[in-house]
Amino acid sequence: MITRYPPISVKCPHFLHGGDYNPEQWADTPEIWDEDLRLMKLARCNVMTIGVFSWSQLEPEENKFTFDWLDTIMDKLAQNGIYAALATPSGARPAWMSLKYPEVLRVTSEGRRQFHRERHNHCRTSPVYREKCRRINTKLAERYKDHPALLAWHISNEINGDECHCDLCLAAFRRWLREKYANDLGRLNRAWWTRFWSHEFSDWEQIRPVDPSVHGMMLDWKRFITDQAIDFFRNEIAPLRALTPDIPVTTNFMGVSSTLNYWKFAREVNVVSWDSYPPWHSPQGDTMTACQAAFTHDTNRCLKGGRPFMLMESTPSATNWAQVCKLKRPGAHLLTSLQAVAHGSDTVQYFQWRKSRGGAEKFHGAVVDHGGGENTRVFRDVARVGEVLAKLDAVIGTTVPAEVAIVHDWENRWALDLMQGLGLDLRRSNTVTCMAHYRPFWARGIPMDVIDQMCDFSRYKLLITPMAYMLREGFAGRVEQFVASGGVWVATYWTGIVDENDLCFPGGWPGGGLRDVLGIRDEETDATWPDEHNRVVFSAGNPLGLTGEYESRDIHALIHAESAEVLAAYGRDFYAGRPALTRKAYKQGWAYYMASRNSDAFLNDFYGRLARDLKLRQALPGDLPDGVSAQMRADGKREFVFIMNFNAEKQSVDTGNETFTDMISGGSIRGRINVGGYGTSVIVREPR
Ligand code: GLA
Ligand code: ZN
Repeated sequence: MITRYPPISVKCPHFLHGGDYNPEQWADTPEIWDEDLRLMKLARCNVMTIGVFSWSQLEPEENKFTFDWLDTIMDKLAQNGIYAALATPSGARPAWMSLKYPEVLRVTSEGRRQFHRERHNHCRTSPVYREKCRRINTKLAERYKDHPALLAWHISNEINGDECHCDLCLAAFRRWLREKYANDLGRLNRAWWTRFWSHEFSDWEQIRPVDPSVHGMMLDWKRFITDQAIDFFRNEIAPLRALTPDIPVTTNFMGVSSTLNYWKFAREVNVVSWDSYPPWHSPQGDTMTACQAAFTHDTNRCLKGGRPFMLMESTPSATNWAQVCKLKRPGAHLLTSLQAVAHGSDTVQYFQWRKSRGGAEKFHGAVVDHGGGENTRVFRDVARVGEVLAKLDAVIGTTVPAEVAIVHDWENRWALDLMQGLGLDLRRSNTVTCMAHYRPFWARGIPMDVIDQMCDFSRYKLLITPMAYMLREGFAGRVEQFVASGGVWVATYWTGIVDENDLCFPGGWPGGGLRDVLGIRDEETDATWPDEHNRVVFSAGNPLGLTGEYESRDIHALIHAESAEVLAAYGRDFYAGRPALTRKAYKQGWAYYMASRNSDAFLNDFYGRLARDLKLRQALPGDLPDGVSAQMRADGKREFVFIMNFNAEKQSVDTGNETFTDMISGGSIRGRINVGGYGTSVIVREPR
């Protein structure tokens, strides 16, 4: 097992600190360029993402390339010891291209071609667009392949799952389907259950992915969109791989956005990077926001099996697009930056370095404001991050040693989103459900992995699969293996309902052979209105040692315990007394079934009990105050513990009986310490 990964680039074995830099907007005022460089060094920035939206400056007319300004910037960066995450410019194209080649413009599901405007809206199938991208990328790679500033390739920008319904895309989808169904339309019709509402297809040309009533088709359309995005990406990187085989390639993902299956996409990049904009200081509270951010960081770390990722974008103050664009409170910038590091980021990068004077993002937070200079609160906050990161070199390449994993699967999410049933608000995003099951571990400082159904989970002690409605190929078998060989598995209501084509399992739920592992039969499911609740009542002397009653809501499966033991039962309604929580000893392991959507108090106590029984590793031995997170990175020898207080008030935290070194102050730490409001400590201990 790998205990320490190499740095993102061998060129720089330090934390990368920097941001999106748009020098092309200041090409007429080169004195600003020099001022930028002075400020970058002052803030201890060592990387800048450049060229993301530079196409009109790089190719102002078709085939007329103007690289001089970029040459100057690359040279200036290198002279000042700053690296470039050099972007390919395909996120936004010049207007001449849209006018001359309308096929590069996306078409809506209603068949309307879009006008040239904004960004991120090209057709990903268009041969012309692909050719244009490949051409400019080749030129960039040829020109800068040996440039000392070139650190990484940043491909395009926030490649998303937005759809294009042009004829080229439809033809590509039909080709994709022919391949998937071995040219057999009958097979496709069966997989999509098309006799429903007379949707059978007798010719491939009839297929148009605009019908939410044909779930199998819409699911395949989503799979196709991911594959097509990957195909587009491969076209972009082909010249880069050929000319700069040693330069890592990444593209900035968007957290846990469901539109593209990042699990598939992540295989194509050398390092995962993502753009993080949590709603800090919003009505849901910073503890909730911190937990959601932690979940998303953990996901991005797991996308490449635990390899450190890049925090490619974050705002140093406020965004310009939130419902309320609130500034980060004092301390919060260092805290939220180190939170990414605590969960496995080896970089802290921002959108944006300098505010643009015009355009849609002129009021988006930046390191350098319109007033210019270093004499601002935000600049000082950023410089402080630079100062702290410089002390954390030993953390580079270490990872998070998780013994518990939660399964948050993109294809399952798509299927749940397409599904009609249970009640629109009740089926709610699987992400929310997964985060609720994640929180008890986060609150205890227990390192977690967040994975998908296709990941190897054999190494975990505990596996949690909230609402695994769709069982992807092979998943059920691997779950059975996991439990058989000693793992503990927690499944919930609405598990094992459909196969990978979104066809219901016949013969009783959970399907896929999991009924025997869990020892239950799920007969029917009751949904309740938001203000209706049931109770989950623990039976006396149950082996978990939990007592009393907890609230349940939204979804209640009415199950039969076939070979499982009943730990708790419903307290109300016509199904009072029927099983609400079961457990079965299956071969060497245990399988739990949680039949209802339960309160946070239930999840906290239930998982707290499992964590204790399984002796899951915690970053710190004691209980943590609410809103304080403790996370751990390790390399097999040393353990780095990040203590993060997301409360505005100071908190006292028990670090246990061992002696730690405070990596920021250099002092020794033992026992209880005070962590200020929005404060962060990074401490290191030798292994026990
Ligand atoms: C995204 C984009 C950036 C910028 C920021 C603003 O992350 O990648 O170009 O628009 O949002 O928050
Ligand atoms: Zn298209």
